Amino acid sequence: MGSPVVLGIESSCDETGAGLVRDGRLLGQAVASSMDEHARFGGVVPEIAARAHVSSLTPVVSRALAEAGLRMKDIGAVAVTTGPGLSGALQVGLAGAKGLAYALGVPLHGVHHLAGHVAADTLEHGPLPDPCVVLIVSGGHTSLLLVRDLARDPILHLGDTLDDAAGECFDKVARVFGLPYPGGPAIDRAARTGDPGAVAFPRPLTGPGDAPYAFSFSGLKTAAARWAEQHRIRRARLPLADGAAALQEAVADVLTRKAVAACDAYGVGTLVVVGGVAANSRVRALAQERCRSAGITLRVPPLRLCTDNGAMIAAVGDLLVRAGALPAPLDVSIDPSAPLEYAALHPVAGSGTGAVGRADTAVRGTLR
Ligand code: KG4
Ligand code: ZN
Repeated sequence: MGSPVVLGIESSCDETGAGLVRDGRLLGQAVASSMDEHARFGGVVPEIAARAHVSSLTPVVSRALAEAGLRMKDIGAVAVTTGPGLSGALQVGLAGAKGLAYALGVPLHGVHHLAGHVAADTLEHGPLPDPCVVLIVSGGHTSLLLVRDLARDPILHLGDTLDDAAGECFDKVARVFGLPYPGGPAIDRAARTGDPGAVAFPRPLTGPGDAPYAFSFSGLKTAAARWAEQHRIRRARLPLADGAAALQEAVADVLTRKAVAACDAYGVGTLVVVGGVAANSRVRALAQERCRSAGITLRVPPLRLCTDNGAMIAAVGDLLVRAGALPAPLDVSIDPSAPLEYAALHPVAGSGTGAVGRADTAVRGTLR
């Protein structure tokens, strides 16, 4: 018998996603976004996001099934983001996932959102090489990781951001520049006609004595905000395209420089760049350029798999199921600030690792 179809559900922020994956293959997916409802507030409003998940969850699951040409009874396991993320938003996805898993009599797996971003790439480029270096760059996180077997091994953090995430830096500077939310794509668009060398923004934590794989974006954010402020004080027109291009260049430079240095230092031949900021055109281009000259294979998921979606959660669920991971108990809860240690987010009594149990007993039927 083949492995089961895994339904993945994502609801940690403003996207409600559902995806169906079997044996590493994406069968269908659908995403609904409440982004437009948050735009006038300049950021995600947690209560609005949670309510939007309530109305979007069932339609999104139905659309993913329709795209895959499957029916509810074909689902063999359910995976759901249990953290990190907005508490109310996570609760909605988990409640829906529990209901489906219980009604279908199939196992439920709690998944770490960021492990989902990592696994997203496998849907396009196949299994990850062991080991690989992963650069996760999203709205809430920026980390350099050493990843082995995603379903079984602990994830080693080589470095994390000490303050703001890269996406947060884009979002906040965009706001100061008068660009719409979400700021990352707006900066990317504005930068197209700009000169990246027009403003000398800092490259934080790149000095000889600095932590080689740690990041810091709050100083860069402040520098960009000051630059905009100075124009405003002088009542001068803001050269928006140049500011956007220079900011994007600074972020892309720091991210890719450190990621390539980590591959070199650890003797790893593959770099995987994932998360919403992996959609940035300059981050993608500079990563490609630097990896090519360092002889490193670069993997970046296609744009639709970079931002939050359900397929990436299904991809982790599929890996866990095939690795024989123990399912979550039905009283599993969310963990809004879960650290990224394992792809599975529900500690299993006695295993000491949280992720993988005995293959023979683990997978089916525990929710009956
Ligand atoms: O991974 P994601 O969809 O959600 C989180 O888990 O945070 O990432 C969202 C972040 C936002 O900060 C958004 O501005 C940024 O990804 N982003 C971009 C681009 N597209 C999305 N940043 C820069 N350039 C882009 N093209
Ligand atoms: Zn995300």
